[in-house]
Amino acid sequence: MNLKIDQRRLIDEIEKLATFSDAEAPAVTRVVFTPTERTARGWVKDRCQEAGLIVRDDAIGNTFARWQGADLNAPVVGTGSHIDAIPNAGKYDGVVGVLGGLEAIRALQQSGLRPRHSIEVLIFTAEEPTRFGLGCLGSRLLSGTLSADAAKKLTDNEGATVDQVRRGAGLAGELEDVKLPNGYHKAFVELHIEQGPILEREGKPLGIVERIAAPASLRMTIEGSGGHAGAVLMPDRRDALSAAAELILALETAAKTSGAIDTVATVGICDVFPGAVNSIPARVRLSVDIRDTNLQRRDNVIHALDRACRQTSAKRQVAIQKQLLNADAPAESGSAIVEALSEACRKHNFPYLPMTSRAYHDSLFMSRIAPVAMLFIPSKSGYSHRPDEYSSPEDIARGALVLAETLAALTK
Ligand code: GLV
Ligand code: MN
Ligand code: MN
Repeated sequence: MNLKIDQRRLIDEIEKLATFSDAEAPAVTRVVFTPTERTARGWVKDRCQEAGLIVRDDAIGNTFARWQGADLNAPVVGTGSHIDAIPNAGKYDGVVGVLGGLEAIRALQQSGLRPRHSIEVLIFTAEEPTRFGLGCLGSRLLSGTLSADAAKKLTDNEGATVDQVRRGAGLAGELEDVKLPNGYHKAFVELHIEQGPILEREGKPLGIVERIAAPASLRMTIEGSGGHAGAVLMPDRRDALSAAAELILALETAAKTSGAIDTVATVGICDVFPGAVNSIPARVRLSVDIRDTNLQRRDNVIHALDRACRQTSAKRQVAIQKQLLNADAPAESGSAIVEALSEACRKHNFPYLPMTSRAYHDSLFMSRIAPVAMLFIPSKSGYSHRPDEYSSPEDIARGALVLAETLAALTK
């Protein structure tokens, strides 16, 4: 089989997709269910249809683009990723896996392959947590990790429910029907940018992901007492931001002293109310992200944060409310897919690195219902979730080629 990736076409499509953005170039902002995201998705669906794929959306807006295999009863070989982008992001996160997956199918079509299994590109809904506070909404529902009832309780920053927002975006059907039937996939393999510096540092063009770290996130509200920044003396204060600062540092210490470099913890959002220079902070909202490859160590950090909350609350007389949004288990890749990816690399003499994904991906949730693995390509300087995110055309095309080889092997 002689596979040819059309590098020019693939890069042109990535550049074009980046123009569907609510931020000025080179930044990309594409939040789920906004008009911009819907138009971008429509444009990708058109490209899939042009390639002869059968396209459908489910009730949460996950898009399935299928190249029909010879055996309609055989389970599907899946690939894909997401096209939503956090505020002020770059153009490659998720997109490389979607358009790279489409390009891989086009290369396979051109090679004359008649696959036994159908090959499907999945464009997941809301991999990013921007709108509903929970990442991987689409794949959580597809895999049954999140129930339809729980999804319906999620609201966006304006208080609109998932149901209201998705129906407003024109999606019909019931969330109860999103979960895929058992055995739907034979395998799921996701191409993605690394989003970290390891491949570049090691001088390797490809990474084969063997496990995905376990993410957890929380929202916290710290309620103190506001007042005049000049008139209220220090002994009388119940400053919510000072309490929050104590918690943020306690979290950092817990991650740094976990005993492993794999433990990471971040407070990425800190909203201060009322937010005036001469007003004591009365209320603070924090968003907390904790991850580790080891579930026990990750949970130890959550428990350390619990203890810090109790201590700070008592010491500073503030009320602390904590909501655990998600605490997911890690995932191990399926050995047959890892072997197919490795074999494809060896065939082309492409060096590769076995890796751990510290970012989460839809594959984490697809792993609950199917064997999965991921293929990483280098990210320049390890940058991601920022406008100067970059992967070279050659690296992207190489990833699409290895993906195509792997899909071909898996459809046998
Ligand atoms: C996904 O975008 C992540 O935060 O890992
Ligand atoms: Mn991302
Ligand atoms: Mn991503």
